Amino acid sequence: MTETPVHPPVLPAHVSLLSGFMAPGPIADPDDGEDRRILIVDDESGIRDMFAAWLGEDFECETAASADEALACMAVQPYAIVISDMMMPGRNGVELLREITMRYPETGVIMVSGVDRPQRVRDALRLGAFDYLIKPCELDVLTLSVERALSRRSLLRTARLYKASLETQNVELANRKAELERLQAQLVHTEKMASLGQLAAGVAHELNNPAGFVYGNMDLLSTYVSALQELLRAYDQLSLTEEAASVIDAVKTRIGYERLIADLASIIDDCREGAERICEVVKNLRLFSRLDEAEIKQIEIHGGIDSTIRLLSHYFGSGGIVIRRDYGELPLVNCYAGQLNEVWMNLLVNAAQSIRGSGEVTISTRHEGESVVVTFSDTGKGIPADNLSRIFDPFFTTKPVGEGTGLGLSITYGIVERHGGSISVESQVGTGTTFTLTLPIEPTKKVIDQSV
Ligand SMILES: Nc1ncnc2c1ncn2[C@@H]1O[C@H](COP(=O)(O)OP(=O)(O)OP(=O)(O)O)[C@@H](O)[C@H]1O
Ligand SMILES: [Mg+2]
Repeated sequence: MTETPVHPPVLPAHVSLLSGFMAPGPIADPDDGEDRRILIVDDESGIRDMFAAWLGEDFECETAASADEALACMAVQPYAIVISDMMMPGRNGVELLREITMRYPETGVIMVSGVDRPQRVRDALRLGAFDYLIKPCELDVLTLSVERALSRRSLLRTARLYKASLETQNVELANRKAELERLQAQLVHTEKMASLGQLAAGVAHELNNPAGFVYGNMDLLSTYVSALQELLRAYDQLSLTEEAASVIDAVKTRIGYERLIADLASIIDDCREGAERICEVVKNLRLFSRLDEAEIKQIEIHGGIDSTIRLLSHYFGSGGIVIRRDYGELPLVNCYAGQLNEVWMNLLVNAAQSIRGSGEVTISTRHEGESVVVTFSDTGKGIPADNLSRIFDPFFTTKPVGEGTGLGLSITYGIVERHGGSISVESQVGTGTTFTLTLPIEPTKKVIDQSV
């Protein structure tokens, strides 16, 4: 008969490719000392002493005269093997076996009995005994049984240790996988935002001039139309010949003169409003892609937030929405003041718009190491999980047409990123939303270079 060699478990090759991941090394057996310790339990002192004397040459043997005494010994220190008689006064060998397998599963139990009944043997083995020897047993057979029990115990312990080690490695792997997935998502998000930024910059650049012509000419158009209206009114005052008056009246009727004159002003107003909106979108796209005005300087964060709140008095002045300030001690932060005000504005307007009726917006600030952390928490309607990954996308809005362009958060994201900071969001529908910004106190050289 050939024996299959027992190898330590082998991890899949790809596992070790993960940086920092430790493949399992040799596993140390923590309590080698107990491996040679044997407890002999028998109510007959002659047998106890004979076994102890025989095995004592190679092992550290102790004896007990009953199951209770044996359990008392085991409570004090662990044993590798227990050799127990079956028939003993008080608790018998089977009861002792039951206790040992339950309380000390690593201890191997060899039963020794004068009763040679197959059912007894089967029962003892089924309960977890390693071997069942019939008295009087050959002492060599006893040694053999002890050695086999020890090597089985050692294999079991090694397997258990490997299993525990593998489980730890599995947990570590799962954590690393989650971390990699998070980093990947972050990378995809950053790349997406970068390409959206380029697109936005291109669109803004192309639209900027034509939108400027249209908007710039609106005032002139309005003035010219007013002048022409004045001229027409002067003509209307003139008395005409009957023939000329009927020609003019026919033309007036055909073109709907009265309605046309009345509508002109509001048409021009609508056009001006539309042009203003286009300019606003272009300006926001430029802000999202690159804010090129202003210079970097030391600013006091709280002052910027407070002045923005004052500008938003129509949201926060009437008392429906309460502002709570939980300001910490902050150092001056080197940044683009105008851009950061844009950030506070977007976050505060969003918070206010998410609150229907009354609610609270809490602003907290903290100094953490090389950064400042600013959080805006509102008690508004919250953001559904499906939308959370899209709110920083340009033009993503859930607001009605005319109320939101969906650019606020994408601009905010761009600004925070350009400052070398980060922004994250947590939200629960029906409870509220918290935006957390981390901004470095001193921007890195890269941030400064990007901004010139
Ligand atoms: N504090 C908040 N509470 C609930 N929803 C929010 C909050 N902030 C943002 N959102 C959601 O994210 C969307 C995108 O916000 P973003 O500021 O980019 O655009 P907007 O507010 O819709 O329009 P704009 O800011 O251009 O006027 C919002 O339409 C809204 O659905
Ligand atoms: Mg907004």
